[in-house]
Amino acid sequence: MSFINQIEPVYGKEEIKAVMDYLKSGGWLTEFKKTREFEDMIAKFTGAKHCSVVTNGTVSLFIALKALDVGPGDEVIVPDITMAASPNAVILTGAKPVFVDIEEESLCLDVAKVAQAINKKTKAVMHVSLNGRAGELLKLKKLCQKKKIYLIEDAAQSLGSFYQGKHLGRHGIIGSFSFSMPKIITMGQGGCLITDSQKLDDKIKLIKDFGRKSGGVDFYETVGWNFKFTDLQAVIGIAQMKKLKARMAKKKRIFKLYRHLLAGVKEVKFIETDLRQTTPWFMDILVNRREKLIAYLKTQGIGSRSIYPSLHNQPAYNKKGSYPVAERTANKGLWLPSSVNLTEKEIKYICQQIKQFYSIP
Ligand SMILES: Cc1ncc(COP(=O)(O)O)c(C=O)c1O
Repeated sequence: MSFINQIEPVYGKEEIKAVMDYLKSGGWLTEFKKTREFEDMIAKFTGAKHCSVVTNGTVSLFIALKALDVGPGDEVIVPDITMAASPNAVILTGAKPVFVDIEEESLCLDVAKVAQAINKKTKAVMHVSLNGRAGELLKLKKLCQKKKIYLIEDAAQSLGSFYQGKHLGRHGIIGSFSFSMPKIITMGQGGCLITDSQKLDDKIKLIKDFGRKSGGVDFYETVGWNFKFTDLQAVIGIAQMKKLKARMAKKKRIFKLYRHLLAGVKEVKFIETDLRQTTPWFMDILVNRREKLIAYLKTQGIGSRSIYPSLHNQPAYNKKGSYPVAERTANKGLWLPSSVNLTEKEIKYICQQIKQFYSIP
């Protein structure tokens, strides 16, 4: 058996053909009709009225914040466990990220603690649906409405995941996604924003194209940058979107099998996951003796990875405060191999090795 990566991109003859056909067609590479087609597919799949595809999922968060006029003097609440892109997009606008602890059940923002952190400077809350789980999104939405602050959804990991039957990224005013290599569909890099607001979508489209309505029209309605996509990536995205439903089903099967095979291992804990709503992106577990387990699995040809650290005490942010759940999660969280091409045989082997590590016959 060859080394099992924690994650790898999966593409096949459909993507290869799409790229070859596109190049043969003499397309201009930059974003145009194929990007519009890709955006339409995402809008249709998520049920959003508008979608704008951009360079990546960090830029999409930055654009979301800019479209809502978040900037210097403002605070934005982010979970203490998330990818660094969430707070860093806030910092890029000149605003301040305020880290709030997560809840144990879903690893999403703890709404009671969000309520305590809101003050006059709070302009938005960035909900991160870690691994496609939504946590107390409805409660959070109600709180944001009551306090008259924006709810932005960082749904980078959540394409294919829902909350109360509605796609994630659609519960807040803007939803943001990533198509980086480890995601359920990927073009290497990429991101998108979805919204039901025509006004915000217009603004998003200006911001991603230097502040102008279209290429060659040098009239600048707002300050913008170049966060555009390419049609070369879009043709891969279109081919991957056609595989999304099958991939969602496969990810759920992988998660179920891990949960089933590791059910008796007391050192391994799964996070409550409703597979009718959530498509797990990474197969996440909480374990004892994590670093030793990672090292052992590596010797057995299995890649795994620690979950994100609690961000407040990283040197980049250096904030004090009480974040017990985030810290516990950061110390125990582990991502198992999660690629959509993982076989049953490989999953059985991985679980057998985990049991072996914990000395279970
Ligand atoms: C929660 C979250 N937000 C934002 C991002 C950033 O996306 P990108 O890598 O496309 O910039 C990621 C990427 O993994 C993510 O997981």
